[in-house]
Amino acid sequence: MPVTPSANIGVVGLAVMGSNLARNLASREGNTVAVFNRSPERTRLLVDEHPEAGFVASESYDDFVASLQKPRTAIIMVQAGRGTDAVIAELASRFEPGDIIVDGGNANFHDTIRREGEISPTGIHFVGTGISGGEEGALNGPSIMPGGSAESYETLGPILASIAAVAEGEPCVTHVGTDGAGHFVKMVHNGIEYADMQLIAEAYDLIRQGTGKSPAEIADIFAEWNTGELESYLIEITAEVLRQVDASTGLPLVDVILDEAGAKGTGAWTVQNALDLGVPVSGIVEAVFARSLSSKRAQREASGDLPGPDGEFAVADADAFIEDVRQALYASKIIAYSQGFDEIIAGAEQFGWDVKKGDIAKIWRAGCIIRARFLNRIADAYAEDPELVALVVAPYFRDAVTGAQAAWRRVVVAAAQSGIPTPAFSSSLAYYDGLRAPRLPAALVQGQRDFFGAHTYQRVDKEGVFHTLWSGDRSEIETTPSSH
Ligand code: 6PG
Repeated sequence: MPVTPSANIGVVGLAVMGSNLARNLASREGNTVAVFNRSPERTRLLVDEHPEAGFVASESYDDFVASLQKPRTAIIMVQAGRGTDAVIAELASRFEPGDIIVDGGNANFHDTIRREGEISPTGIHFVGTGISGGEEGALNGPSIMPGGSAESYETLGPILASIAAVAEGEPCVTHVGTDGAGHFVKMVHNGIEYADMQLIAEAYDLIRQGTGKSPAEIADIFAEWNTGELESYLIEITAEVLRQVDASTGLPLVDVILDEAGAKGTGAWTVQNALDLGVPVSGIVEAVFARSLSSKRAQREASGDLPGPDGEFAVADADAFIEDVRQALYASKIIAYSQGFDEIIAGAEQFGWDVKKGDIAKIWRAGCIIRARFLNRIADAYAEDPELVALVVAPYFRDAVTGAQAAWRRVVVAAAQSGIPTPAFSSSLAYYDGLRAPRLPAALVQGQRDFFGAHTYQRVDKEGVFHTLWSGDRSEIETTPSSH
């Protein structure tokens, strides 16, 4: 029997994220949702478990496409990689000009730019879309970062707005920019997420080792912090994780979890692209490498007896130290977000996207993993000055870091003296001092480069490019920039 087009949106890929997104879509007024999964059993299970959703289920691509009203719009929710290309090919071969293919996975934005370039000449829109908030977010309201053409957003925007999280009465979705902009911004979101998580972990480690408090007691501290400027999803769940007791041993769960952190790769992408873009993202890179270090079990075991403080240190005033750690955490978090937005600015310039930083901060206020009260402050800062040269110099953040930096320094010193690794806290402070330094030792680096490679240098007192004849009479000549 011919299939009648009855669905205004479709979802391909019905694992937990895809199923939850489909259920979210179906729960919103005005949406009729078509669903398809390569293995039909999963489709049947979703339909049987959620009859209230009124899904239009198909067991073939032909039927799925036929069930979609024009402009056909389908969201792909499969594991990023070759699987995505296979689904894109199936849809693209059946879609017509004006239809919209949406990739909702954590795809690499370079792949999205390639795919969009291959598909858009056919008249079909291809939209790479970051979707943040995990399985719970997909079901109840994620933060959504679509790229793609402005024309596709005319159809897609209202549908995504119907399922997005809401912050201050606004849906957490915006058209981030063309082609791969959405997946790029989602990548940076994940990089900031890594930094945020690492900073929280370092704060926990410092308090645990510095005060001897139990995970449950530290959970109470994080819960308290979550009522102030550090209020955020990651602080909230940290208290939950630290409070959790392992059923089989009766020990705090955090003490029985193997201390080797995994990573699916989005944090590494953020760093790789920051390197290409020349943007320092010290908090993010230290978070990525801290995960790498944690998994170097053989090296760690071989290094266990290397001399140094044992990490145990008794602070004189536990409450004062905990407050110092809280301030250091907030200051370091400001640096991490400042660096993340620097990468977004650099990426937008490099790839020709008109990314509105204030809008990105706004859609991150709810639904996503880095949702936090202080994103309102970031949105305010960019609303006040859209061309802000660095977030950290915006009045609110300048004042916040000014007030915190004494505590920040005490914490970094205490960590170094006691042998507790705080790569993200320490690198963020070093970055802050690098930003504010009137003169950097980069001058010496230029001299070294010129000495061994004749790579030339500029001077502070006159225009031009210079080279010293190091192997000759050491006189200085004016020259042209080195090309080797
Ligand atoms: C989100 C999360 C999501 C995923 C992380 C996990 O925004 O909903 O970031 O994308 O859980 O990518 O990444 P790692 O496995 O690399 O920590």
